[in-house]
Amino acid sequence: MRLDVVTIFPEYLDPLDVSLVGKARARGLLDVRVHDLRDWTRDKHHTVDDTPYGGGPGMVMKTDPWGDALDDVIADGYEHGATRPVLVVPTPSGEPFTQDRAVELSRQPWLIFTPARYEGIDRRVTDEYATRLPVRELSIGDYVLAGGEAAVLVITEAVARLLPGVLGNAESHRDDSFAPGAMAHLLEGPVYTKPPTWRRRGIPDVLLSGHHGNIARWRRDEAIRRTAAHRPDLLRRSAPDAFDKKDRALLTALGWYQDQDGHWQPPAQDAP
Ligand code: ADE
Repeated sequence: MRLDVVTIFPEYLDPLDVSLVGKARARGLLDVRVHDLRDWTRDKHHTVDDTPYGGGPGMVMKTDPWGDALDDVIADGYEHGATRPVLVVPTPSGEPFTQDRAVELSRQPWLIFTPARYEGIDRRVTDEYATRLPVRELSIGDYVLAGGEAAVLVITEAVARLLPGVLGNAESHRDDSFAPGAMAHLLEGPVYTKPPTWRRRGIPDVLLSGHHGNIARWRRDEAIRRTAAHRPDLLRRSAPDAFDKKDRALLTALGWYQDQDGHWQPPAQDAP
């Protein structure tokens, strides 16, 4: 997979040399190219922003540097044999970036990221490239960052670990908390490793029992408890047939009940 990032802070993307993404690059699974947007400015101050039409606070990133940069990056990718670019625009006003989106992006051969500072990029830039390539405007959460670079790091890491050959164990992301196709979207419960006692704290006996059926059941119960506590919305959205008899008994014990459609609802006191 080829990744291009155009930014006014190339050094912000240095973490792409480290850890999982860094190893994927070193092994030739990811071809990452970071570009300085200011290389495409023409004035001596390397201006990338200007005041917004219509007034208001903040600055807007200018059309020309972005247009010239993207034209060159796209031409360079094609010259190097890349195909089917997808433009990924991190913005708090984008669609939520989820595990489903990560899977979709991991199947693309070439992603071009346009992290913006200030109040964002002049709309005509995205409108222009949307006539030529798929554009994904993505938000990594309901908060506002100072710029899209941290979002690029987040999206890249979520996508890179899904690429074939990047994770050691091909099974490792099969039970990711948000893996698509999972029957119910459950958060993962607690995990433990050696030593068996730490500061007088032991580990749950069932994990030492060697009884795979009981261990699987315990893990699922813990996942349901955790999801009920931290993300009740995920349980409420799950299809009623995602839960087996023991799941239903646990949910009931936690005070949950089924509505007319059979969907599970939290106890009245923690209803959203
Ligand atoms: N840029 C600023 N805030 C952002 C967010 N929440 N997601 C993606 N890009 C952003």
